[in-house]
Amino acid sequence: MVFYFTATGNSLYAAKHFDTELVSIPQELKKPDRRYKADAIGIVCPLFELDMPPVIQDFIRDSEFETDYFYIILTYGCHHGGVAERVQSYLEGIGKKADYINTVLMLDNALPVFDMEQQKVLDPEKRVDEHLAAIRADIDARKREVQFASDWEKEFYAGYRNMIREKGAYYVQPLYRVEENCIACGTCTKVCPMGCIRVENGKAAYDTARCVGCMACIHACPQKAIRFATIQEVNPNARYRNPNIPLRELIAANRQK
Ligand SMILES: Cc1cc2nc3c(=O)[nH]c(=O)nc-3n(C[C@H](O)[C@H](O)[C@H](O)COP(=O)(O)O)c2cc1C
Repeated sequence: MVFYFTATGNSLYAAKHFDTELVSIPQELKKPDRRYKADAIGIVCPLFELDMPPVIQDFIRDSEFETDYFYIILTYGCHHGGVAERVQSYLEGIGKKADYINTVLMLDNALPVFDMEQQKVLDPEKRVDEHLAAIRADIDARKREVQFASDWEKEFYAGYRNMIREKGAYYVQPLYRVEENCIACGTCTKVCPMGCIRVENGKAAYDTARCVGCMACIHACPQKAIRFATIQEVNPNARYRNPNIPLRELIAANRQK
């Protein structure tokens, strides 16, 4: 059994390599009583700002997992900042523990930092399938290991946190704005894992309180009518979805209504 959260398909693509029983975290979040039992249970999600996204932390905290083997895989695109050790510390703080934590380098979908067209060119160099196969072998062998965090990655993390402390949060709400070329097609409402976008008066509008800033909406909008409210994009014409994940699969994973 593997639980996944995905905005642009990378984490779903990764999750498919580890198990056949795939469970969407956004669908489970609606259930008040969450108890799961399986021989092995995995969590696969993207890295946000060098950490496990708070929505996934909360999902794990508020769910019960009965298993002999609990593993967590974070997909990321550039720097993981030694996240595995921090995830284990978080779990220990809430009375849980993972048997295996690892990261997979995939395409970086962070539009404020990267040009998606350049990322697509770099993608083959990341040898994603090879790394996913190696992690699958670790899981099959029930390997018990938390990915080592190098001093360099830890320093990178500390540097990022210092920058946030000094300059303030990078991603602030309202994160997005909807431009006039919105055709009210509703794609954003279907891919949003938090169900925070609705179409109103012929235009998309979103509830900032529930938004987790995953960028599913901005990547999926066929009109490129969703933009960041204040943050500059590297290439405003480039968008991304994992080429192995069709839009209908992303919608099936994330649609809330
Ligand atoms: C808000 C946000 C923050 C991110 N922060 C990082 C980061 O700190 N380091 C990194 O390497 N990738 C970062 N990424 C890139 C994603 O973790 C990566 O592309 C991931 O594979 C996307 O998975 P998904 O397609 O399943 O959503 C970030 C992406 C978003 C949307």
